[in-house]
This record gives sequence, C-alpha cells and structure tokens, in this order.
Amino acid sequence: MARWQVGLSYDLRAPDGSISWGDIGIDQLEAAGIDWSFLQPDDGVLTAELVAGYDAVLFAAPAVTEATVARADRPALLARFGVGLDSVDLEACTAAGVAVTITPDGARRAVATAALTLILALEQQVLAKDRLVRQGRWQDRMSFMGRGLTGRTVGVLGLGSIAHELFHLLAPFDTVNLATDPYREVEEAAARGVQLVDLETLMRESDIVVVAASLTAGTRHLIDRRLLSLMRPQAVLINVARGAIVDTIALAEALAAGQIRGAGLDVFETEPLPTDHPLVALHNVVLSPHALAWTDEMALGNGSSAIRAILAVRAGRVPAHLANPAVAASPLFALRPDQVTT
Ligand SMILES: NC(=O)c1ccc[n+]([C@@H]2O[C@H](COP(=O)([O-])OP(=O)(O)OC[C@H]3O[C@@H](n4cnc5c(N)ncnc54)[C@H](O)[C@@H]3O)[C@@H](O)[C@H]2O)c1
Repeated sequence: MARWQVGLSYDLRAPDGSISWGDIGIDQLEAAGIDWSFLQPDDGVLTAELVAGYDAVLFAAPAVTEATVARADRPALLARFGVGLDSVDLEACTAAGVAVTITPDGARRAVATAALTLILALEQQVLAKDRLVRQGRWQDRMSFMGRGLTGRTVGVLGLGSIAHELFHLLAPFDTVNLATDPYREVEEAAARGVQLVDLETLMRESDIVVVAASLTAGTRHLIDRRLLSLMRPQAVLINVARGAIVDTIALAEALAAGQIRGAGLDVFETEPLPTDHPLVALHNVVLSPHALAWTDEMALGNGSSAIRAILAVRAGRVPAHLANPAVAASPLFALRPDQVTT
C-alpha cells in the first residue's frame, strides 16, 4: 500500500514553516509511517486542486464546499481541527463519500475554561481593577466590588460538550445550572445536575447567560433585543460559540444603556471586529479575538483527536466524532482502494 499522504491547511503553517499551533501531536502521524505536508495557500476555501491526491486533510479555518470534494482524487477524510462546522458543506461530503470529523474531545476543556475565564474576569472586575492600578487610582477600589460565583444561576444556551464541561468546572461554586436545548432530554440533563428550561426562563433567571450552541439557521440571532431585555440588570452574557447567535447591535445597546451589567465575548458576527465597533468603546465588556481557548492544551487535544481519526480511516475503521455518520454506509467511502488493502 502506498504511504498515506496527509495535508495540513495553510493556516496551520507558521511563517517559519513549522506548525503554528506548536505541538499538535504530529509525531503520532510520523510514527505511523504517514507523510504530511502543508497544502498550498488558500483563499478561505479548500479547492479541489488544493486537496487533490491527499488521503486525508487536517484543516482549521478554510471552508469546505461541494467543489472541494468534486474530483475523483479527493481525500477520504477531512479532519477539522476544532468543532465548528458552519463553513463545511456536510451534505456534499456525505454524497461524495468523504468523512468529516471534528475534535470535541480536544476542544471542550479549553473552550469551557475560556468561558469560565470570561465569567471570572467580569465578576471579579479584572479589567477595571487593572486600570485602577495603572492610573494610580487605588482610592477608588471600593467602587468596583466583585460578585462571588457561589450559588449563582448559570444558564447555558446549547447543552452540548462545552456546556457540560463548563458545568463540571463550575461544580465547586455550587451554581444553579440551567440550560436551553431543544435537542436534549429533560431526564438526561437532570441526571447531570442541569435543569432544562425554555429560553425565556433562562434569560430571566440567570445571573450568567452563556452562549454555547452551534450556529444554525435556528440559532442565528436567536438572542435578540427582546430576549436581552428579559435579562436581570446585574446579569452578564458570555459568548464562546459563534457571534451571529447574538444580535450584536442590540447587545451593544443593552450594555451601553446599563440594561445588563456586562458581557464577555470571544466571538463576533464579523471577525475581525472592526475597531470602531460600538462594543470596543464600552468598559463593561471583556473581548477576545476568537482565541481565548487557544492553549497548548487545545493544540495537543485537537491535533491528537484529528490524528486518531486519520489513523482510524487509514485502518478502514469508522472514526470517532464523525460529523456525517451517514457516510459510513456510503459505497464511495467503504470501497476506497487504500482501505480494501489494509
Ligand atoms: N470560541 C472557540 O474557540 C470555539 C471553539 C470550539 C467550538 N466553538 C463553538 O462552540 C459551539 C458548541 O461546541 P460543542 O462542542 O459544545 O458542540 P455540541 O454540538 O456538543 O453542542 C452544541 C449544542 O447546541 C445545541 N443546539 C442546537 N440548536 C439549538 C437551539 N436552537 N437552541 C439551543 N441549543 C441548540 C445542540 O443540540 C447541541 O447540544 C460550536 O458549534 C462552535 O461553534 C467555539
């Protein structure tokens, strides 16, 4: 059998030619006798020409369209370094017999930690207190009392992998845990200490609202002006999922009017966020450039998960964390010559 060839999308390449994320566990590929190289630069989309001839492609930012998988020499597997799939045409991949995997096991701890960081930064008033020291205003510190987390109500939109990990990290604070998710069962949530409620109840009753749902047609601008108006004046909103789930203009207005106390945002409707955006001028928000979860822990976690998927497909097995499980039944997937010979 010819040695497997794995392509890494160009956004994973540092200017010096190394892997931009550092240690993603690439030695596991090398140890398995698999060759890897960076794809040529893309314009935000993986074209058929870029991925042609590779057995698998490990990719982070570029989009996957119907055209990506249109050629006969397409990869067997597109392994996403991360979990968001809003820029991947899953249906086209399934139709072409191309498996798509994600790395929820690598991302969940890092993203949940990012959410917790934003919560604590807001509740402890970290940015305001940092400014007091820099400005020599120690006498004003009584005006910036923090809020303890213990016993607070945390409501998460989207009771998925990240939400569960966040509730796990919050356990020592004895928070009251609420979630809204139409695709989860009440009993399943209750067994893990989470009460499933409708979205209005979540917005009304939470001290901390965390957005952790996937971006779909159903969640785009789901948190709109009306729902924001239901939040408690002392409540804060955290978004570590996708910016477009929240109406950003309505959020900026609610924050500017003091209708809610603060927001912690790792993601935005438009990225990069323009520096003249109304959110940037506000002091009651903590902002991060969609990178708060980017740690060595996430690099190795995501990389190792994607590499496990590559090794599984090379061995003719159905990989874990398959985003398009229907592909496993596709004759186009099962009959790849490389797999038949293993
Ligand atoms: N900030 C980052 O760096 C970063 C990193 C990884 C993931 N993310 C984002 O976080 C999201 C969640 O990740 P995850 O691993 O927990 O995914 P997941 O698939 O495990 O969870 C997403 C949850 O959203 C729920 N959902 C779908 N539609 C909903 C709706 N209308 N209302 C309420 N809930 C709804 C789903 O049922 C699911 O339980 C990803 O889709 C991705 O966009 C961000």
